[in-house]
This record gives sequence, structure tokens and C-alpha cells, in this order.
Amino acid sequence: DWTMGAYREQMVEKIREEVGDKKVICGLSGGVDSSVAAVLIHEAIGDQLTCVFVDHGLLRKGEAEEVVTMFRDNYNMQLIHADEQELFLGELDGQSDPETKRKIIGKLFIDVFQKHADTIEGAEFLAQGTLYPDVIESVSFSGGPSVTIKSHHNVGGLPEKMGLKLVEPLRELFKDEVRALGRELGLPQSFIGRHPFPGPGLAIRCPGEITREKLDILREADAIYIDQIRKHGLYDDIWQAFVAILPVRTVGVMGDGRTYDYACALRAVTSVDGMTADYYPFSHEFLGETATRIINEVKGINRCTYDITSKPPGTIEWE
Ligand code: XMP
Repeated sequence: DWTMGAYREQMVEKIREEVGDKKVICGLSGGVDSSVAAVLIHEAIGDQLTCVFVDHGLLRKGEAEEVVTMFRDNYNMQLIHADEQELFLGELDGQSDPETKRKIIGKLFIDVFQKHADTIEGAEFLAQGTLYPDVIESVSFSGGPSVTIKSHHNVGGLPEKMGLKLVEPLRELFKDEVRALGRELGLPQSFIGRHPFPGPGLAIRCPGEITREKLDILREADAIYIDQIRKHGLYDDIWQAFVAILPVRTVGVMGDGRTYDYACALRAVTSVDGMTADYYPFSHEFLGETATRIINEVKGINRCTYDITSKPPGTIEWE
């Protein structure tokens, strides 16, 4: 009979056979797929694996530290923390077009990844957390709406360019199975149950021009929103939830004074695969309490709206 434990052992054997005594590089994003792939490969080949975590400065509050602590300290992995915030934010400075922003981030991501990967001498393999649906999609749905409406950044073409062979230990698995495997490998539920997070990160949750000030404000507001959702036990009922900081300042009153600060939009949707989505029907109490917390606790925001757009016609992200 088939168990995840048996599958884990089988995959470990397979990775050992495939890789031999060669070195493997794995791009770690902090997402479920790359995390599970990295832990599985690490179990198979230990220090022959080096992970590269690119910090583009567009991550959520505390996220980079969390990833580094988890994989370097908990799992004892060889991990390169590529802190490239200056580079990304510098190149993005003054850019407001969504597709231009994505292209800049996608290109820099590949450059930076390659630069750091090149420092790993004798690497012959590149590990990717490709899932079964990705395998199918790239065959039959390429050019479909998710690809043409927004250019998703991936590292397609990179292995050939770098002369690396691919290791894709999750190729036969669906998302639920990857989560089960992650649990089997001891990854904490807070990692396994995570909402998806887009490659361009907070860049597409900051419509228009990106500034460090806006990103900092956004990170604070988003952390409070997610905290509220977790406290109310709603996290697992939601596909994705996040805050977008709007490119507009509005007038408010605080104490005796007038404020002129940013407005933000809260977004939460239910979905099966991200292709269609419905807004999440929070109670008015939840929304009111959350708006009050954000406005009181985050310097720089004085207005909160709730986005009730479904997909279609809207998209989940704001850009
Ligand atoms: P949209 O906004 O198109 O999002 O309804 C559907 C799903 O895709 C994610 N998304 C992205 N993921 N790069 C990514 O890796 C991107 O450029 C990108 N744009 C959207 C989004 O978070 C949602 O899960």
C-alpha cells in the first residue's frame, strides 16, 4: 500500500541515483514547492545541495529572515542569501507600468540567480519545484490567459543557458500531495499552508511607482491584515489575502489634526486554481476592526477599502 513515507524514501533513492556525487543548485523562494523540493533533495544529498534565495526587496515583513532561519539554522542547508534589494529597487525606480515592472524583475532575477549560482563550483544540476499541473500546463495551455494577460516570471530557459541538467522531484505530484510530502518531511504547517505569493512580490501590490516608503508602509499593513485573518481562524478558508497600497493620498482626521496619507485596499479571495476567484465575504465586524487596527497602527495610512471584485473581470492582484 502507498504512503507518503514510502514515496519519500523512493524519491530520495531516485535523486541519489540521478545526481551521484555531483552538486545541485536550487532556487528557494520561500514558497511551498521550492521549499519541499529543497528539503527532499537535501535529505538525499546533504551538502551537495546549495540553495540560492534571492531577496529582491519586495518580500513581506520578516519573510527573508524566516526563510534563512528555517533553511540555514533548522535544516542546516548550504544557503546563499542574495540580498539584492538595492539593485532591484534601483532599477524599478520611476517605473510604473505593470508589465515593465515584471520584465525588470524577471530579468534581474535571472541575472542575480546566475551570478550567485556561478560561484558554486562544479554544479551540474538545477533543482526546480515543478509540479504535475505545471508540466501539463506548459504542454497544452501555453499562451493561455494566465500567460498572456500577465507575464509570469519563471526561470524558463535558464538551465540550458547555464549548461545545467534539471532535477524536478515533484514532477509527478499535485499541490495537495506536495503539502503532504512537506508535512512528512517535517516542514511546519505555517510554511505548508501558505497562500501563494507572486514572483514579483510586493511590486504588483504597489500600483504605479514603487518607493521604499510605500513598501515599508505596505509591509506593516499587510502583516496586520494577515494577523487578523489568522486570529479569526480564517486563513485556511482563503486562497490569497493581501493589502495593496494605492497610489493616492487622502485626507483624514486624527485627534485634533488633519492627516494626508495613503489609502490601501484589502484583498481576499477564494479560488480553486487562481484562474477564477470570488471575493471573500468577511463580516462587517472583521472589516471594521481590521481597518481600525491598520489605520491606528500603521503610520502613513489613513484610509482602508475592501476590494469586492471577482475574477473575472478583475484579476486577483492589482497589477
Ligand atoms: P491574477 O492577478 O492574474 O493572479 O489573477 C493569478 C495568480 O497568479 C499570481 N500571479 C503571479 N505569479 N508572477 C507570479 O509568479 C506574476 O507575475 C504573477 N501575477 C500574478 C497571483 O498571485 C495569483 O495567485
